[in-house]
Amino acid sequence: MTPIKLLILPGDGIGPEVMLEVRKVIDWFASNRGLAFEIDEDLVGGASYDVHGTPLTDAVMDKAQSVDAVLLGAVGGPKYDVLDFSVKPERGLLRLRKEMDLYANLRPAQCFDALAEFSSLKRDVVAGLDIMIIRELTSGIYFGEPRGIVTEGNERVGINTQRYTEAEIARVARSAFELARKRGNKVCSMEKANVMESGVLWRQVVQEVHDTEYADVELSHMYADAGAMQLVRWPKQFDVIVTDNLFGDLLSDAAAMLTGSLGMLPSASLGAPMENGRPKALYEPVHGSAPDIAGQGKANPIACVLSFAMALRYSFDLGDEADLLEASVNDVLAKGLRTPDLGAGEGTRTVGTAEMGDAIVEALSERQSA
Ligand code: NAD
Ligand code: IPM
Ligand code: MN
Repeated sequence: MTPIKLLILPGDGIGPEVMLEVRKVIDWFASNRGLAFEIDEDLVGGASYDVHGTPLTDAVMDKAQSVDAVLLGAVGGPKYDVLDFSVKPERGLLRLRKEMDLYANLRPAQCFDALAEFSSLKRDVVAGLDIMIIRELTSGIYFGEPRGIVTEGNERVGINTQRYTEAEIARVARSAFELARKRGNKVCSMEKANVMESGVLWRQVVQEVHDTEYADVELSHMYADAGAMQLVRWPKQFDVIVTDNLFGDLLSDAAAMLTGSLGMLPSASLGAPMENGRPKALYEPVHGSAPDIAGQGKANPIACVLSFAMALRYSFDLGDEADLLEASVNDVLAKGLRTPDLGAGEGTRTVGTAEMGDAIVEALSERQSA
């Protein structure tokens, strides 16, 4: 087969630590499932700033545009907090998303059985949970103009602008409806149409796309604040949630805790299909660089490993391989292995990042030979 071209950008903090475990998983698939990968690794975020004075070089941007998929660890850290906004590590990630036009960010929140006890919510509320948040990723208040800090009279004013075009809303709505058809066939769209004009337009356009192209899918609308409440009250009422860039950022971190830890939540950022029919794509955990635990070998690599599973599914049409990897993660959790963020209890054993990665690879082999 033609090798799958991957660009790996480990980034900062725990990014490189969790990515090492993903490399083990990739190697396993190469050796045991006949997959061929051509892997390039480079710098992003603070790691790139330290060497090049910028969080993303043009050369890395070009590479990202030409590969089949990008895998990213995490960016950022306190060391870089003092930097000018234009060269902060986070700008590197935002540039990748914007220039690759990765408008649909899929953030699944799935509760693995073995972790249902550990969620901060009651078992009943989270057991069997499987929802998908689709966050619009290339527009809205993250990118709207005007923006900046200006002086008006004798005080400073911070400005950001929420802005959505009809086309931007329609395309992410289509992503949500398409995905819903392959799942529970239900979409809930969240905005604040009660206070924001961009929310009014969001609601109208999602409804129009539904009525003209996806009338078979069940659609509801919710104000995002009420949605946040419903997400922790009874999350199983949702199948696919579609929302804007900022609300999606907040709601997906909240959803992460339904699954037990931010260290569990993967994501796929998808754009339009390339010439080969595959979508432009970047896969990354939802969590950040976790400066409080970086360098201690105790970060949970599962979010990053599951992001690779999403790559197998959404970029390479390798659904069986993705299922296998997800099942192996479940096996390891069922055996009681826990990184510290997943707590401890009867029948569990606390392990570090590397041991968790090794156990996932072992579980893959066990399933393969079963
Ligand atoms: P964070 O996600 O890095 O950490 C929040 C909390 O969750 C911390 O207590 C951390 O220890 C814990 N945590 C996160 N991932 C974990 C994992 N895999 N295993 C175990 N525990 C984990 O968020 P933050 O502290 O708000 O941000 C830190 C830095 O990361 C900031 O610079 C921020 O901008 C950046 N950030 C980057 C991304 C990204 O690269 N996609 C996402 C979020 C935040
Ligand atoms: C995320 C992060 C990013 C965001 C930052 C690091 C730019 O919080 O991926 O959720 O706000 O989108
Ligand atoms: Mn976030």
